Order: sequence, then C-alpha cells, then structure tokens
Amino acid sequence: MSIKKEPPKENYTTIVKIPIEKEDFVHAGEASSQIKQRLLKLGYSPQAIRRVAIASFEAELNIVIHSVGGEIEAGIRSQTVQIIARDKGPGIADIPQAMTKGFSTAPPHIQQMGFGAGMGLPNMEHCCDEFTIESQPGKGTIVTMIIREAQDQVSNKA
Ligand SMILES: Nc1ncnc2c1ncn2[C@@H]1O[C@H](COP(=O)(O)OP(=O)(O)O)[C@@H](O)[C@H]1O
Ligand SMILES: [Mg+2]
Repeated sequence: MSIKKEPPKENYTTIVKIPIEKEDFVHAGEASSQIKQRLLKLGYSPQAIRRVAIASFEAELNIVIHSVGGEIEAGIRSQTVQIIARDKGPGIADIPQAMTKGFSTAPPHIQQMGFGAGMGLPNMEHCCDEFTIESQPGKGTIVTMIIREAQDQVSNKA
C-alpha cells in the first residue's frame, strides 16, 4: 500500500482555510477577503496585502470558474505569506499555454459576467515572490504562492 502525500509545508501557521465550490459566484471572493482581514489585523503592510489579495482572489476565481471545486489555504511564517489553492480537477494539460497572457477557456456565459480575460495566472505569478503550479489532468491542480513582506519594500512589485 502506498500513501501519497504532499511535500511537507515548511511550518506555516494556517490563518484561513476555506472550501471553494464550483460556480459559486455568491461566495466567490470570500476566501481572499478573509485572508486580507487577517493580515490587516496582523499588521502586514498595505503593499503586501494588496499582492496577497490579488493572488488569492484570482486563485479562488479559477477554482470557481474552471474546476469541480477545491479549497484555499493561507499560512504565515516570519513575515511570509503562503497561499495554496488546491482543486479536485479537471487539471491543466498544458501549463505554459494556461500561463500565456490572454489565454482562456472560459465559456461565453462566464465571459458575459466579465471573467475570462486570461490574465489571472500571469497576474498571480507577477504578484508573488515564488509561484508554482502543479497539475495532473483528471486529478487536479495545486497552485502554491509565496509573498514576502520584506520583499516589496525593496522591489515594490505589482
Ligand atoms: N484551477 C484550474 N483548473 C483547471 N484549469 C484552470 C485552472 N486555473 C486556470 N485554468 C486554465 O488556465 C486558463 C487561464 O487561466 P487564467 O489566466 O486565470 O485566465 P481566465 O481565468 O481568465 O481564463 C483558464 O482559462 C483555464 O483553461
Ligand atoms: Mg482566472
């Protein structure tokens, strides 16, 4: 018997962990909003919170729009924020294509709601100090994003 596990997380303290339902536009945005509130109370800078908010909102929307459902988890560790977006499928067959600015498979009814510009993944990568996306077609996608508080004083990214 083999048990598959995710690689161990490096001691991040979870501050928010929320299930995200497919096509739940009523609650879409709540995960990123909760993460933002927690980081505000913890004294993170507006610059870091802005980057986290954009990255987590786009990740959340991608689960709502493109997946069968999943979850968003945010953790903190010494002025570093980690956001993990996991879903249960359908996965992404061609990651470089998905990462291309303007590429979107959003169907017309989603585009009519104003989504599907194909800028979510490029923006997520732009906002993060570390960005990894792992996907197995049929199984799901895991996007891991790291945003460092100290970094944005220096580089003023995003
Ligand atoms: N969690 C996901 N599961 C499956 N496919 C995804 C997921 N996230 C993104 N994709 C694919 O990558 C494409 C690009 O994503 P993104 O840059 O966020 O643009 P958009 O969401 O506007 O389509 C999506 O249209 C979709 O085909
Ligand atoms: Mg998107």
